Amino acid sequence: MVEKIYVPPIKIQGIKTKLVDLISEVTYISDDTVWYEPFMGSGVVGLNLAPKHAVFADTNPYVIELYNEIKNKNINSYIVRQYLEKEGHLLAERDEKHYYYVRDRFNEEHNPLDFLFLNRSCFNGMIRFNKNYKFNVPYGHKPERFSKGYITKIVNQVKRLEEIFPKNSWQFKCQSFINTIKEATEKDFIYCDPPYIGRHVDYYDSWNEESEIKLRDALYASGAKFMLSTWDKNKYRENKYINVVWKECYKLNREHFYFVGAKEKNRNSMIEALLMNYDPSIIQREKKIEYEQLSFVFSEIKKHAMG
Ligand SMILES: C[S@@+](CC[C@H](N)C(=O)[O-])C[C@H]1O[C@@H](n2cnc3c(N)ncnc32)[C@H](O)[C@@H]1O
Repeated sequence: MVEKIYVPPIKIQGIKTKLVDLISEVTYISDDTVWYEPFMGSGVVGLNLAPKHAVFADTNPYVIELYNEIKNKNINSYIVRQYLEKEGHLLAERDEKHYYYVRDRFNEEHNPLDFLFLNRSCFNGMIRFNKNYKFNVPYGHKPERFSKGYITKIVNQVKRLEEIFPKNSWQFKCQSFINTIKEATEKDFIYCDPPYIGRHVDYYDSWNEESEIKLRDALYASGAKFMLSTWDKNKYRENKYINVVWKECYKLNREHFYFVGAKEKNRNSMIEALLMNYDPSIIQREKKIEYEQLSFVFSEIKKHAMG
């Protein structure tokens, strides 16, 4: 059970901060296990579960570089404070001109500190690149974004990384999920949080059925225990791939609420799913967790259809 959830310095759509406690209840990690996180995003899951050995990977080179620079002590909380104070001051003075100036500079030089600045001042904390891998998210229109308190919050998030990195043996790699999963062995644990299938079809980095099947095949071939985060259903639709691609898995659900605008009546609910290739009841620790075994449900449906 994770006592306090640490929020990493990077923001990303689909961040799993709210699932960390549930994931921690049903994962296997020991000092001999390597924790593999092929779609690390902000890394919030592994950073909180704090395994001794881990490989965090993503195809976004800039998150990986930022974390490697902190790990190698080329960037620290002091440097982050100085940088954000300077750039935050310029943003307050020059507003969007400065945001677009930093965005152009980042697309030329790829400085991980500029990536952090853009991530915290762009529209909705989005991370999106065009087909030439240029960051193209517009300005969030908050010239006072980098207030003293906000900078301190980010600096403390970096400090947490500085503290935790030397205590563990962690690697950060920029590579596709296939290469990351190939490294895992039977005694390891793989946590996957790919882009949600059938939801965010982005013109550049799209995730489709073929990718989902490749992921499934690679996970089973590894022989490792694995867990996959995906969406299950909302008021309008359900994820049809669960009962097809992942039909051998066990499934846990958690409801997640999000707002479209500020009004209470615009509160929407989404059921999230965790799919596992092992029975989570064997490692239930403190709480009794409800889960469904998909292969069982699936064969019941088939039996019903036949008879
Ligand atoms: C939903 S996000 C992960 C969020 C993360 N679990 C968190 O809580 O912050 C999906 C991530 O997968 C990465 N990604 C997309 N395609 C990939 C691929 N083919 N191989 C590895 N990573 C990929 C994206 O860059 C993104 O960071």
